[in-house]
Amino acid sequence: MKFFVDTANIEEIENLIPTGFVDGVTTNPSLIAKQGADMAVTIKAICSIIKGPVSAEVTATEFSKMLEEGKYLASLAKNVAVKVPLTVDGLKACKALRDQGTMVNVTLCFSAAQALLAAKAEATFISPFVGRLDDIGEKGMDLIDDIVVMYENYGFDTEVLVASVRTKQHIIDAAVIGAHVATLPPKVIYDLYEHPLTDKGLKAFLDDWATTGQSILPK
Ligand code: E4P
Repeated sequence: MKFFVDTANIEEIENLIPTGFVDGVTTNPSLIAKQGADMAVTIKAICSIIKGPVSAEVTATEFSKMLEEGKYLASLAKNVAVKVPLTVDGLKACKALRDQGTMVNVTLCFSAAQALLAAKAEATFISPFVGRLDDIGEKGMDLIDDIVVMYENYGFDTEVLVASVRTKQHIIDAAVIGAHVATLPPKVIYDLYEHPLTDKGLKAFLDDWATTGQSILPK
């Protein structure tokens, strides 16, 4: 399972690179706005430190303008995945960009029917938003289950990118289902390390070690 980081904050990305867990990055207009920095500069900077796909989202809603924005975003770096919303025009832009060899991440997916259309439009990634479905009382993870089965049934190449991840449990569930990718806010990545028995065990080891008066490195 690949881990993408869901942030436009360069410092957060840089801090996570040494973990070796960062296979890519996803941004969206809200995350860009939160940083208050120029979008093109931000995307170029992220692409210069990340080898994997970096999602950059169009903000136009009409096909030809989306295509123009998508081509511009793709020109910023080789590893840009242009993000388009799951609308009629968005999927037309997806198909056109894919025909030109550009990676495309279809975002704002909330149903299996939408995911089927994205795969037929040859999306590189489909981003179903599990957290936002949970927010309205649905089970976001059921959608991941359906899409993974559906894509396997027909051998679609589109990768299921679990988005709107809020908890450690989302990641575990997505991995059990076999989703290809999850995009995680940095806080959720750090949460994955946590277990109270690890902390308790480490404290006990260090307390016992302190009683020996030894140091591992020669003094
Ligand atoms: C990433 O591609 C999505 O834009 C993001 O995961 C949405 O997350 P949110 O629902 O927490 O805003």
